[in-house]
Amino acid sequence: MSIDLAALPRDFLWGTATSAYQIEGAVAEDGRSPSIWDTYSHTPGRVDNDDNGDVACDHYHRWPEDVALMKELGVNAYRLSAAWPRVVPGGDGPVNERGLDFYDRLVDALLEAGITPSVTVYHWDLPQVLQDRGGWPERDTAHHLAAYASALAGRLGDRVRHWATLNEPLCSAWIGHLEGRMAPGLTDLTAAVRASYHLLLGHGLAAQAIRAAAPGARVGIVNNLSEIRPASDSAEDLAAARRMDGHTNRWWLDPVHGRGFPEDMREVYGVELPERPGDMEVIGGPLDWLGLNYYFPMTVADDPTAPAPFVRDVRLPDVPRTGMDWQVDAGGIEGLLLRLTEEYGARALYVTENGSCYPDTVREDGSVRDPERSAYLEGHLAACASAARKGAPLAGYFAWSLLDNFEWAYGYDKRFGLVHVDYATQRRTVKASGRRYAEIVRAHAARGAADVTG
Ligand code: FCB
Repeated sequence: MSIDLAALPRDFLWGTATSAYQIEGAVAEDGRSPSIWDTYSHTPGRVDNDDNGDVACDHYHRWPEDVALMKELGVNAYRLSAAWPRVVPGGDGPVNERGLDFYDRLVDALLEAGITPSVTVYHWDLPQVLQDRGGWPERDTAHHLAAYASALAGRLGDRVRHWATLNEPLCSAWIGHLEGRMAPGLTDLTAAVRASYHLLLGHGLAAQAIRAAAPGARVGIVNNLSEIRPASDSAEDLAAARRMDGHTNRWWLDPVHGRGFPEDMREVYGVELPERPGDMEVIGGPLDWLGLNYYFPMTVADDPTAPAPFVRDVRLPDVPRTGMDWQVDAGGIEGLLLRLTEEYGARALYVTENGSCYPDTVREDGSVRDPERSAYLEGHLAACASAARKGAPLAGYFAWSLLDNFEWAYGYDKRFGLVHVDYATQRRTVKASGRRYAEIVRAHAARGAADVTG
């Protein structure tokens, strides 16, 4: 597999990504309050094996070791999220300085190690107190997000330049409120559509708050997008693919690009949006960059009996799949990077997550061999470089994930890390794929140096 490293800029960010609830643990320490994920994971039957994030990777205590691991991998960037219930335990109101202290120390250690931090304000861990007041279906939640973002950026903004408002609002809204497979676990279309609206309003307000608190901040949003392919060329399946594209991609991209919510999808949902004058200007405010989380493409067929958007997933036979049963298809990441460039005029793009899950084990000699993950990584990096060669302004790539971690409703059995975590001992072991990533990062740097001297 060859990766056209020369297509990637010299100052390319080579990173890994994590999120607070998936790695931190220490859920009741230093003033943190419960989030909707604490509630959800402690509800029997919601998460595989009834796993929860109480301890996770114990990163709250082991962060110096984790920063050292990043240094060992040779990466120059790290995407983390802050936990809202640590920073503003009441959801709104007083800021918890001890919560901020944690991120403050982490940011300093990263910078010291030559690693650029990219901070995501909200990666799904809404304070439970706000859920008790209605959560994302309520407008106030958007304003509370902005206040929390302001506190965070006020404290870290002198050192952190890269900010993302939201991680994958699609999952918060659709999976959390419509499909019920993530916190808060609802299956209510009206709540889901209202949540989607207030998430994007929260994005716009938080972007303004970050810019006000941290002049010079570069603010973006992180979406998980998929290429949507029709199961056949029948008119019904083509229309189904168009609806699924609206549901998965356009609903999240159009509004933040000042294009409003897609009309066709408003009709599909048939739910009135809680719009107020001026909202669309806030939602469509300036964006410095777009983050793409990419895992798999989808093939869909028309299904009028399914909930909105009235499609069903079609499982293709004989295609490679990861341990999540997700189809491996690097063409999808290239297609999406080019679409964001051409259709949405992106000025800077980051792959903010990309990675694969396989059932790794530590061998007797202490190594973790994960050739499938290395192949996934190489294939997708090659596709990214190809998109860059064709004009996509790709400025960085963050592998999901630095560590094996709490994979939401799948618990700890699903491992995505470049570093293996033995949860009984918290021992970290760099996997072969982690070493492969380090080699690629070095090769790119060496190329840059060769260019400079040669
Ligand atoms: C994404 C999430 C991330 C992780 C990966 C596998 O949807 O943003 O937290 O769970 O999937």
